Amino acid sequence: MSSEHDRQFFDTFMIVLGALVAFTFFVYFLANSIGDRTQVRYNDENPLRAQLVAERLSPVAQVAVEGEAAPVTNPVDLVPEEPPALGPAAAVDGEAVYQSACFACHMAGIAGAPKFADVEVWAPRIARGLDALYANAINGYQGEQGVMPAKGGRADLSDEQVRAAVDHMVEAAQ
Ligand code: HEC
Repeated sequence: MSSEHDRQFFDTFMIVLGALVAFTFFVYFLANSIGDRTQVRYNDENPLRAQLVAERLSPVAQVAVEGEAAPVTNPVDLVPEEPPALGPAAAVDGEAVYQSACFACHMAGIAGAPKFADVEVWAPRIARGLDALYANAINGYQGEQGVMPAKGGRADLSDEQVRAAVDHMVEAAQ
């Protein structure tokens, strides 16, 4: 009687144990297949994520070697150090000033610069009045979008030339 009882208990025990082991494998494979379909696809194989990781792993500094193009890390560096000379005829040619001093940031709207000829972006700025735009372009300022360097970083420009460039940009954004 007692040994019959033991056997019964043992059988039940093995069945429960077997079910638990089977369940463990089931959960393991289920998790794996869900992971393949989600995590792997959305994270591990995501080119955007790979790019972000590469950016985080990239060196903090880059060395510019003479004779080779310097790596551009700051939009201010896009402004040529020795800008093409503006002849007397171009003295108040707003478009020429824009091409030589403002284009680098404003053409594509780099670092928060209001994009050239983008009516919507310029409208609220133009609404503040031309004088405010002149003053900010000449003296530079820190706005909500970024930093506008004084005269676009070109101290050699006259106030008049900067005003002409602003006029050119404002006209294009009407
Ligand atoms: C290094 C990049 C850079 C260069 C070069 C640059 N700008 Fe800007 N500019 C900016 C940024 C950024 C802003 C927006 C700042 C903000 O509002 O947050 C701006 C804003 C402006 C504004 C709007 C000012 C306002 O009150 O809303 C004017 C006008 C302007 N720039 C004119 C010029 C002119 C003219 C030149 C060339 C002489 C020039 N910028 C060159 C980055 C630049």
